[in-house]
Amino acid sequence: MSFERLSTAVSDPLLALMTKFRADPRMRKMDLGVGMYRDATGHTPIFAAVKHAEERLARHQMTKSYLGSEGDLEFVKIVGHQVFGHSRTPGLQTVGGTGALRLAADLLVRSNPKRRIWVGIPTWQNHLPIFNAAGLAIACVDTFDPATRAFRPGVLLDSLSDAAYGDAVLLHACCHNPTGVDPTPEFWSRVADTIVARGLVALVDCAYHGLGSSLDLDGSGLRALIERAPHVLVAYSCDKNFGLYRERVGALFVSGTAVEDARLLCNHLSALARTNYSMPPDHGAAIVRVILEDRALTKLWRTELEEMRTRIKHLRVSLAAHGRVGAVDLGALSEGNGMFAMLPLTAEEIGQLQREFGIYVAPNGRINIAGLTEGNIERFIDALRAVQVSIPRIEGFAVEMLGEP
Ligand code: LMR
Repeated sequence: MSFERLSTAVSDPLLALMTKFRADPRMRKMDLGVGMYRDATGHTPIFAAVKHAEERLARHQMTKSYLGSEGDLEFVKIVGHQVFGHSRTPGLQTVGGTGALRLAADLLVRSNPKRRIWVGIPTWQNHLPIFNAAGLAIACVDTFDPATRAFRPGVLLDSLSDAAYGDAVLLHACCHNPTGVDPTPEFWSRVADTIVARGLVALVDCAYHGLGSSLDLDGSGLRALIERAPHVLVAYSCDKNFGLYRERVGALFVSGTAVEDARLLCNHLSALARTNYSMPPDHGAAIVRVILEDRALTKLWRTELEEMRTRIKHLRVSLAAHGRVGAVDLGALSEGNGMFAMLPLTAEEIGQLQREFGIYVAPNGRINIAGLTEGNIERFIDALRAVQVSIPRIEGFAVEMLGEP
């Protein structure tokens, strides 16, 4: 058995950018690429609540014995309470939000190999590769308004009139990745109507809970959907809102009004996990459980989360105050939620930002706003202006690029 037929695998653009940034020796480089929170000094801090929980685990944890394919079910319950307001939603612990998405995709294929998942583009860089890897057919919908070219989640909704019974639709709970533009309550109500009317399954990616408006508001659209839709799979990540990135902490919940199916689906999810990675890693989930089981630690974590959110909001307002910079209108950024915004930059402009200014922006023009500081925003704006002056723009070209995954 040999491997001659393999050619080099396509590397994930966000992770490739992270590696390139780390190798860049320039002192004044700026990482606006991969979606990790950074504080005012440019570091990704460990929450004090996390440190306390780790100390407690080190002192009191008595065993590292296996937990099973579902992972830590007390963690699942307590996170569920945080999201849904009660602990009754069945689910299982997963390897980060990505692991939850992959298990959900596997379940969608296993239960109906013919179904498609409807995905509004642009979306997180890894959504389509995950669905492809699971063998799930994808229907992509360009969610830019044809007249204004602004991001319009409603375009996805309109396209669902072509969805077949049993098809799935991917939704972002909050802090849309990559645009930062979140749907309105009316959208959630209309999407519930459509899902019920057409017999669809919702897969909701909830990776930034609490980084938008508040824990409560960021989950409100999702909760409204669950009250009406029969089948809602929720891929939840604690990597961002607990700053536990490398620990890979997530959960997949099976929710909706068809509760009688939920246990069966969890049983299949558990079997899928067993043949994939057997059991999720425990440490990160144990940290989250320890925090959420303790009032004082929960209070501390919420305060730290609020500090993150407030810093991101301030950065959004500071950027928005610059208004139009060349063809890029930053004015609306103060309205957005979470760490991301998508700028209509051409590939050349993105390349020049990197080469000449050491500013790393994702290939689709997404910036991680948390990568900026009050001290380097001006430098970012100057660079943004400079690359647009030196490269003449062909009207409409940059905007067209945004439609690509
Ligand atoms: C991102 O969108 O940058 C994050 O979700 C990190 C990742 O894994 O891509």
